[in-house]
Amino acid sequence: MDIEFFVEYYSYFLKGTGTTLLISLFGVIFGSLVGILLALMKLSNNKFLKGIATSYIEIVRGTPLILQIFLVYHGLPKLIPLPSSRIFLGTIAVFLNSAAYVAEIIRAGIQSIDKGQMEASRSLGMPQGMAMKYIIIPQAFKNILPALGNEFIVLIKESAIISVIGVQDLMYNADTLRGITYRPFAPLIYAGIIYFIITFSLSKLLGILERRLGASDKS
Ligand code: ARG
Repeated sequence: MDIEFFVEYYSYFLKGTGTTLLISLFGVIFGSLVGILLALMKLSNNKFLKGIATSYIEIVRGTPLILQIFLVYHGLPKLIPLPSSRIFLGTIAVFLNSAAYVAEIIRAGIQSIDKGQMEASRSLGMPQGMAMKYIIIPQAFKNILPALGNEFIVLIKESAIISVIGVQDLMYNADTLRGITYRPFAPLIYAGIIYFIITFSLSKLLGILERRLGASDKS
C-alpha cells in the first residue's frame, strides 16, 4: 500500500466519495420525508392507512436491499416514465428502503414520550394536533435526530451495494481501479479508510449533538 498510488488515482476516490455522500444524503432526506408520512400513517386510527404503512415497512425491512435495487432499476421505469439514469434509480431504491427504517425511528421516538404528556396537554384544553406539534414532537425530536444521523451513517455504508447496477460510487470506483491497475488490495484498503474516516467522524459529531440535546434534560 503506497501513498503514490493514492496520489495518482485520487480522482477516482474523490468522485466516488462525492457520489456515495450524495446518494446517502438524498437517501436520508427523502427517506425522512416518506418516513414521516409512513410513521403518521402507522400511528393513525385509520385501519387502511395503518395497514398500508405496516405492510410497506415490514416488506422493505424483510427483503434484501440488493433485491430492492434490482427491482427499482429494472422494474420502476417500466411502470412509470422515469429517467433511466443509474444514479437516479439507485437513489430512489436507497430512499425507499431508508423510509421504512426512518418510519420506525419516528414512530418509536413519538411513542417514547410518556402518555401523561398528551393527557396533560389535552386536559389543558389543547386539541390533539396542537399537543402533538407543540408538546410531543419537540420532545420526540431529541430521540429522533440522533437516530436520523445514524441512518445517514448506515446509508453511507449500505449504499455501497448500488455498485451492482453500475453507479460509480466509492465502492464501484475502488473496484474499477483494481481492474485498471492490477492492484487487488490497495484500492480496497483506501476505500475502506475513506469509508471509515467519514463514518467515524460523523458518529463522533453525532455523539456531541446527542449530548447537547440531552443537556437540557439534566438541569
Ligand atoms: N443490508 C440491509 C439489507 O440488505 C440493508 C439495511 C438498510 N438499512 C437501513 N437502515 N436503511 O436489507
